[in-house]
Amino acid sequence: MPIRAYAAASATAPLAPITIERREPRPTDVELDILWAGICHSDLHFARSEWEPPTYPVVPGHEIVGRVRRVGSRVTRFRVGELAAVGVLVDSCRTCAPCRRGEEPFCSTGPTFTYGSEDRISGGQTCGGYSERITCDEAFTLRLPATLDPARAAPLLCAGITTWSPLKRWQAGPGKKVGIVGLGGLGHMGVQFAGALGAETVVLTTSPAKAADAERLGASGALLTTDLAAMARHADSFDLIVDTVSGDHDLNALLALLRLDGALVLVGLPPKPQAVKAFSLVAPRRILTGSMIGGLAETQSMLDFCGQRAIACHVETVRVQQLNAAWERLARGDVKYRFVIDMASIRG
Ligand SMILES: NC(=O)c1ccc[n+]([C@@H]2O[C@H](COP(=O)([O-])OP(=O)(O)OC[C@H]3O[C@@H](n4cnc5c(N)ncnc54)[C@H](OP(=O)(O)O)[C@@H]3O)[C@@H](O)[C@H]2O)c1
Ligand SMILES: [Zn+2]
Ligand SMILES: [Zn+2]
Repeated sequence: MPIRAYAAASATAPLAPITIERREPRPTDVELDILWAGICHSDLHFARSEWEPPTYPVVPGHEIVGRVRRVGSRVTRFRVGELAAVGVLVDSCRTCAPCRRGEEPFCSTGPTFTYGSEDRISGGQTCGGYSERITCDEAFTLRLPATLDPARAAPLLCAGITTWSPLKRWQAGPGKKVGIVGLGGLGHMGVQFAGALGAETVVLTTSPAKAADAERLGASGALLTTDLAAMARHADSFDLIVDTVSGDHDLNALLALLRLDGALVLVGLPPKPQAVKAFSLVAPRRILTGSMIGGLAETQSMLDFCGQRAIACHVETVRVQQLNAAWERLARGDVKYRFVIDMASIRG
């Protein structure tokens, strides 16, 4: 079935309208009319070939909220007319040890990403949420709590789960001092989650103008990473730091903030390698690790938590016709704090 979408035809081409094919729903599929699609910095990195050269055209978008249009004959968890969501993954092998543990992002055969992956069944490239509709197996479709505003919920599907997962794994909570580095799409969710989990939360930013927002989002304060005296006052004091930075930055300066056995978790994916001094990890002993999105069940718990605690993203909505301007602004860090595309605008 041909549908409308926006795609990048090359690393330098602006996003432009394209027609793509979506499959007819299989027995376990849910078909969504997409209402909202968040713009993640990964969309830019990927489509602009900042990581590895992708196969073009690329239809980005992995923060998707839509209304169920049709369901396959064996679907049990979704009904036509309900809201539902799709995140960064649309499939995995479902049988390997990580998949059985609910850690689908780490599927040993490689998960199927919502865009830019080979479809496990039909072949061809998966296409993301900058489009009218998506068809997804119900096992990879999420339920949206009724209390959440759909536009403000869309970025939870990537920005939300990517910060939630390491905060839970590394036990952010009362008595812990947690740092969130970079107040962008991911960072502004990380601050809200760390605060809601009861941790003392500090935002580490390069933008002095974001300090007041950090406190409004639940941080006890903001630390300018360019203020070396202030950084020195916080040395050896953090239990956990989640780093969402998308470009080059000094990991050694962040590691110096950790206490003995504290952990720096990288979730940001700068295209270039970032140097780490052995001394930064050796004394005091510190942990440097990473994290990628979260499993399906974990994503559902995060959505349910947001529904119960009225946690949502701070978004600026744009029409498809404004997509290229929104990407330019995101590349400059000029968004508070996530662009979300009103996909109804694709229908004119
Ligand atoms: N691991 C995963 O599963 C996963 C999932 C989604 C996204 N990501 C990655 O996470 C990163 C952030 O994504 P996002 O959508 O949150 O991006 P974003 O909205 O652009 O936010 C990134 C923030 O990092 C800071 N920053 C950017 N460049 C910097 C630099 N060179 N030095 C210091 N600070 C810098 C800025 O915050 P301040 O102004 O506060 O300094 C900026 O707002 C991207 O690399 C993305 O690909 C990873
Ligand atoms: Zn993302
Ligand atoms: Zn697997």
